[in-house]
Formats: sequence, C-alpha cells, structure tokens
Amino acid sequence: MQAIIGGTGLYHLTGLVVTRRQVVRTPYGEPSGALTYGRIGDGAEIVFLARHGYGHTLAPHRINYRANLWALHEVGVRRIVSVATVGGITGPLVPGVIVVPDQIIDYTTERPRTFFEGGDQPVAHVDMTQPYGAAMRHDLLESARTCGIAVVDGGVYGCTQGPRLETAAEIRRMGRDGCDMVGMTGMPEAALARELDLDYAALCLVTNDAAGQRASADEISMQGMRVVVDDSMQNVHRILGQLVGA
Ligand code: HPA
Repeated sequence: MQAIIGGTGLYHLTGLVVTRRQVVRTPYGEPSGALTYGRIGDGAEIVFLARHGYGHTLAPHRINYRANLWALHEVGVRRIVSVATVGGITGPLVPGVIVVPDQIIDYTTERPRTFFEGGDQPVAHVDMTQPYGAAMRHDLLESARTCGIAVVDGGVYGCTQGPRLETAAEIRRMGRDGCDMVGMTGMPEAALARELDLDYAALCLVTNDAAGQRASADEISMQGMRVVVDDSMQNVHRILGQLVGA
C-alpha cells in the first residue's frame, strides 16, 4: 500500500474519498494524527497522514517521526510520498517550482533518529548513499510528466532544525555545502523510512527564496509563502492524483 505524508499546506488530498480513519499506537508514542484511508477515483486504497497534525499544531522538531513511520509500516504501507515545502537556494529553485530531490544533508540536532536503540537488538547501519527510493522517484517524475507539470529532477535537500528560519550566512554556508533547497522535515523521516525498508521519495514545493537569496535579501514574508502555497499546491495535488488515482 502507498502512503502520502502531507506537509505545510497539504492537510487533505483533493479528490480523496475517505473510507476510514485509524488511530495507531506505536512503541514510540503517537503519530501526528489518525491515519486517513481513502481512494482517488478507481485507484487502490491509500493512506494519508498530515505530518504537522490536522490543525498544523506540531512544529518540525516536535513531530514524532518514528511513530509516523512505524504506524504506516505497521498497517502495511511499503511506499511513501513525502510532501514538503522548501526554501530555494540555487538557480532554478524559485517560488512555485516543484522539485523531486535526490540527495540530503542533515543539519538537525536532538531528534530521535533511529529505530535501532541497541539493547539486545543488533545494531544495523543502513545504507543511505541514495537516500530516496529510485522507483518512487521515477513514478513521481512520470506522474508529473503525464500531467504536463514541469518539475526539477534532483537536488540536494538540506534539513535544518527549525522552527526558526535560517540566517543569510547559514544559507550561504549551505549553498557552499552543495544544498539546493532548505526544509525542516526531511530528516530523520527519510532515514527512518530506509530503516524500515520503505520506498520513500519527496515532492517539494518551493515557497520562498531562502534567507538572503534574491527576493528574500532582507526578510522572508510568511504572507508571501502562503500565497505561493495557495497558488501552486494544486499542481502537487494533480501530481498525487495522477500517481494514486486510476
Ligand atoms: N527554510 C526552512 N524551511 C522552509 C523554508 C525555508 O526557507 N521554506 C519552507 N520551508
């Protein structure tokens, strides 16, 4: 089964006919909310989970990533599309652009980031050379192409701790590190998905130029980010509808 984890601005899926909701408890605590099951058109049943909670009450560093991933795996999910908003750092990643990243740099601190807590469990070091699933990335790119929506194929997602936005110097450094975009929720989500052997990829909407870049030279406007979400999230819905509908 396929799941979609919705980020900022994506709390419901357009066209999803909800069949049931399920509260799942995990050894790691509670997920961000009940799992919502449903179908788009004649597509197979999927699961939707709003990462920040349905009323957007969870800040990025307070999200229980382990519970979210564990719960989805527990109910039979094997593929996940993670939707997120990002700030654009390099070239083509300007507000309104959609990108399917292919690499990650993790700048987060103090987030529980593994299911391997030792004890009598053998420690496993999962491979993260390619942090996103090739099949899931391919299917997302194909869905976008079928919809006629241009998306950027590849890019390095830098994940910061938040919830504050970055300083201009932090963004300059991230650019030197090779980051193309900046967000706050990509990790440890991707690493936990890999630990559970899930086919996981991200669909990111650029909502603003990152701090100090282009239009954000002086400050980042929350209002500006909202306008981009309102204008462009429909393209994300269309890509997802193409992916999971039939
Ligand atoms: N920084 C971090 N996370 C974000 C940004 C940003 O500029 N925009 C959207 N999510």
